[in-house]
Amino acid sequence: MFFRGFCLFFVLMALSLSFELPNLNSETLTCNPDDLGALTGFSNCLESTIPEWNWNSTDFPGCCAWTGVTCDNSTGFNRRVVGLELGSKRLVGKICGSLADLNQLRVLNFSNNFLGWSFPDDLFNLPNIEIIDISNNDFVGLFQLKNLSELNLQVNNISGSLSNGIGNLSNLVKLDISFNLFSGVLPDIFTRLARLEQFSARSNLFTGLGANLFQGPIPNSLSSCRGLKTLNLGRNNLSSELPNNFKNLKSLTQLSLSNTSLSSILSTLRILQHCRNLSMLALTRNFHDEQIPNDMSLEFKNLNSLILGNCQLRGPIPEWLSRCHKLQFLDLAWNHLGGNIPSWFGKFESLFYLDLSNNSLKGEIPKGLTELRSLISGKATIEEPVSSFQLYTAGQGGPSLSYRQISSFPPTIDLSYNILQGPIWPGFGNLKRLRRTIIGPPFKIGAATGFVLTVICCFISGWALPKPHKRNYM
Ligand SMILES: *[C@@H]1O[C@H](CO)[C@@H](O)[C@H](O)[C@H]1NC(C)=O
Ligand SMILES: *[C@@H]1O[C@H](CO)[C@@H](O)[C@H](O)[C@H]1NC(C)=O
Ligand SMILES: *[C@@H]1O[C@H](CO)[C@@H](O)[C@H](O)[C@H]1NC(C)=O
Ligand SMILES: *[C@@H]1O[C@H](CO)[C@@H](O)[C@H](O)[C@H]1NC(C)=O
Ligand SMILES: *[C@@H]1O[C@H](CO)[C@@H](O)[C@H](O)[C@H]1NC(C)=O
Ligand SMILES: *[C@@H]1O[C@H](CO)[C@@H](O)[C@H](O)[C@H]1NC(C)=O
Ligand SMILES: *[C@@H]1O[C@H](CO)[C@@H](O)[C@H](O)[C@H]1NC(C)=O
Ligand SMILES: *[C@@H]1O[C@H](CO)[C@@H](O)[C@H](O)[C@H]1NC(C)=O
Ligand SMILES: *[C@@H]1O[C@H](CO)[C@@H](O)[C@H](O)[C@H]1NC(C)=O
Ligand SMILES: *[C@@H]1O[C@H](CO)[C@@H](O)[C@H](O)[C@H]1NC(C)=O
Repeated sequence: MFFRGFCLFFVLMALSLSFELPNLNSETLTCNPDDLGALTGFSNCLESTIPEWNWNSTDFPGCCAWTGVTCDNSTGFNRRVVGLELGSKRLVGKICGSLADLNQLRVLNFSNNFLGWSFPDDLFNLPNIEIIDISNNDFVGLFQLKNLSELNLQVNNISGSLSNGIGNLSNLVKLDISFNLFSGVLPDIFTRLARLEQFSARSNLFTGLGANLFQGPIPNSLSSCRGLKTLNLGRNNLSSELPNNFKNLKSLTQLSLSNTSLSSILSTLRILQHCRNLSMLALTRNFHDEQIPNDMSLEFKNLNSLILGNCQLRGPIPEWLSRCHKLQFLDLAWNHLGGNIPSWFGKFESLFYLDLSNNSLKGEIPKGLTELRSLISGKATIEEPVSSFQLYTAGQGGPSLSYRQISSFPPTIDLSYNILQGPIWPGFGNLKRLRRTIIGPPFKIGAATGFVLTVICCFISGWALPKPHKRNYM
C-alpha cells in the first residue's frame, strides 16, 4: 500500500513536471495573438519560407522564440513583438500590409534580402518605429515616417525624385540614400532635419548604373543641420560652387564632394576652413583645370586626410599645407602641379600616405622625406572614427580594394610620373613601415637605384601591393 502510494505520487509528480515545463515555456515564448497573426500574414506573402519559424511545433509554440523576433519583457500570453530583424535571410517576395499590425515594433531590419515591388505605406504609420533598415533590397517607392532616427535606403534602385516628405522625419540622425537612382533636384528638406548627423547620397560604383543624378546647386538648407558630422554627396552632378553657409556646419568631420562638378577651389577651401573639426576632406574630380590656391591664411588644424586627386590643378604644392600638422593622408595625384617637392614634407609627424604621382613636379626628391616619423618608427596612432562611407575602391587588373578607414591604407610614398631627377637618398631605407614606394618612371638619374630601393622596402616590409590601375575615391 505504502509502495503503491509512493509510486502513484511519483507518477503524478512526473506527469505534473512533464506538463509544467512546456507550460512555462509557452508562456514565456508566446506572443500576442495579433502579433502572431501579423507575422503569419507576412510570412504567407513571401515566396520563400523562414525555416526557423514554426507554427506547428509543440515545443516552441510562441513566436517570441523565432529567429529574428524580439518581444518586450512583459510576461504572460500577451508579449508584444518589438523587433523584427531578418537581415540576410534570402527572403524573396513582397511585404504585405499585415506587418503594420505589429504596432509596438521599434526595429525593423530587412537588409540584404530580395524583397521588392513595394513597401506598404501603413508600415510607416507604425507609431513606435525607431529604426528601419531595408538596405540592399529591391524596393521602389518612398514614404513618410515619424519617430525614425535612422533610415538606410541604399541599394534599392529607387528612382524618381526624393520625396519632400523625408523632411517630415524630424528625428532622423542618419539618412543613407546612396546606391539609388534618385533624380531631379535634391529637395530643401534639411531645415526640418535638425538632428541629422550623417547624410550619404553617394552612388553605387559596383552596379555600373552610375551616380545619382541630383542636379543644380547644393541646397542651402543643408547648412541648417548644425549637428551634421559626415556628409557624402560624391558622384552627383551638383555643378555649382559650394554654398557660403557651409561655414555653419561646425560639427562636420568627414566630407566628400568628389566628382560633383564643383567649381572654385579657392572659395571651397575658404568656406570649409570654418568647419574647424573637419578631419577628412575628399574633393577628387572637381575644379577642372583651376589653379591650386596658395593663400597662406588657409588653415585646417584638424585635417588628417586630404584627397584632392584628379582635378587637373595647376601651380606649385601650396605652403599652407605645411600647417596642416595632423596630416596623415595626402593625395594630390593626377594633377598638373609643378615646381619642386617642398622639403617641409619631412616635418609632418603623422604622414604615412603621400601620393604625388602623375604631376609635373621637377627637381630633386627632398631629403626631408626620409625623415617622415610615422614611416620610421611605426608608432603613429591613428584615431579616426570608421567612416560611414567607403573612401576608396580600386580594381581592374590590381586586387579589388576598398577602404573605409584611412588607417587601412598601406604606408606609401608615390612620386611616379613626374619629372624628378637626382639622388635617391639612402635614408629611405630607414622608412621601415613603408609598404609601397614608387619613385619612377620617368626618373632621370638613379632609376636603377629606385628600383632596388623599391625592392628593398618591399622586402623589408614583407609584401608589396601592386599599384591599382584605377582609383576611385569616394
Ligand atoms: C502545420 O501543419 C499543417 C497540417 O499538418 C500543415 O498543413 C502546415 O503546412 C504546417 N505548417 C508549417 C509551417 O509547418
Ligand atoms: C528586457 O530586459 C533586459 C534586462 O532587464 C534588457 O536588457 C532588455 O533590453 C529588455 N528587452 C526589451 C525588449 O525591452
Ligand atoms: C541590419 O542587419 C544587418 C545584418 O543582417 C546588420 O549588418 C545591420 O547593421 C542591421 N542594421 C541596423 C540598422 O542595425
Ligand atoms: C515618438 O517619440 C516620442 C519621444 O520619444 C514619444 O513621446 C512618442 O510617444 C513617440 N511616438 C509618437 C507617435 O510620436
Ligand atoms: C537595379 O536595377 C538594375 C537594372 O534594372 C538591375 O540590374 C540591378 O540588379 C538592380 N539592383 C537591385 C539591388 O535590385
Ligand atoms: C509632412 O507633414 C505635414 C504637416 O505635418 C503634412 O501636411 C504633409 O502632408 C507631410 N508630408 C508628407 C509628404 O507626408
Ligand atoms: C563621375 O560621375 C559621373 C556621373 O556624374 C560618372 O559617370 C563617372 O563615372 C564618375 N567618374 C568617376 C571617376 O567616378
Ligand atoms: C552636369 O550638369 C550640367 C548642367 O547643370 C551639364 O551641362 C553637364 O553636362 C552635366 N554633367 C554630367 C556629367 O552629367
Ligand atoms: C569639435 O570636436 C571637439 C573634440 O572632439 C568636440 O569637443 C566639439 O564638440 C566639436 N565641435 C562641434 C561643433 O561639434
Ligand atoms: C595621369 O593623369 C591623367 C589625368 O590627369 C590620366 O588621364 C592619365 O591616365 C594618368 N596617367 C597615369 C600614368 O596614371
